Amino acid sequence: MSRSPRIAVVGSANVDLTTFSDRFPRPGETIFAQKFDLGFGGKGANQAVAARLCGAEVAMVARVGADLFGPATIDNFKKLGIDTGHVKQVEGLSSGVAPIFVEPNGQNRILVVKGANDALKPIDIDAAAEMLRAADCIVLQFEIPLETVYYAISFAKKKGIRCILNPAPGQTVEMSALAGLDYLIPNESEAEAISGIAVRNLEDAKKCAEGILASSGVRRVIITLGANGSLLASREASEHLSPFAVNTVDSTGAGDAFIGSFAVFLAEGMSEREAGLRANLYAGLSTTGIGTQKSFYDRVRFDAEWAGQRLKK
Ligand code: RIB
Repeated sequence: MSRSPRIAVVGSANVDLTTFSDRFPRPGETIFAQKFDLGFGGKGANQAVAARLCGAEVAMVARVGADLFGPATIDNFKKLGIDTGHVKQVEGLSSGVAPIFVEPNGQNRILVVKGANDALKPIDIDAAAEMLRAADCIVLQFEIPLETVYYAISFAKKKGIRCILNPAPGQTVEMSALAGLDYLIPNESEAEAISGIAVRNLEDAKKCAEGILASSGVRRVIITLGANGSLLASREASEHLSPFAVNTVDSTGAGDAFIGSFAVFLAEGMSEREAGLRANLYAGLSTTGIGTQKSFYDRVRFDAEWAGQRLKK
């Protein structure tokens, strides 16, 4: 591809309020935590930012609230060069917010208040149709109404546009609505929410991916496995894509880093395996800094890391 990939993200934008603590309070208890971080987040916005930093032209379809966070979120997209023509403020609703708790080993727990994200409706897909038709890939998650996600999948299928769904946060899914989807990319708990099969190791992940592929019309399932890399599965075969060793301080947003970068690598013409391996590294590197979007690497830094990893092999 001689031009930059065009990625459209239909999804959420939140503000993340992240607290770092050695432990978390019991009911009725007050304790001191170590650190706090305020940053732009939301699975959709994070994936858009990762794709943009990897070099794509990115457009976002989203809803933000009529509060302090709404205009700031739109401003953040603009500063990064993300098209905000279809990001609108909704009167009477708060912006999406996410109180996040991070343990010393980098593990996170996230609460999401969806706020204005819930106001993104199928009619908004129609309003963005011209821009979406020009995309190489449409990327979706589950922090907006499911009816909008399903509508966008069917739009992408009708127009022959590659479509990636990150079914996060995990919830029960209408399998028939996923027919025609190119990539379903859950983490372990999201994969379990869809399939009912607990994912504790690679063997479980393979069984789970096989189950999802057999019961849906999805072409590929990629289960992200945190520090264990990812599993790329089709109806014919599955392959474990190895992780890269990194010093994790905050794993929040690593799945989003994987998805945004994977969409770009794929649109650049890389094989699924190559794109998945690079996305593993991109996601791993994102865990070496705190926060979500602010921990993502730009393409120059990422390519240097990738070249370094290749030299080690
Ligand atoms: O995946 C991480 C994201 O989940 C955070 O940015 C938070 O906003 C929630 O959407």
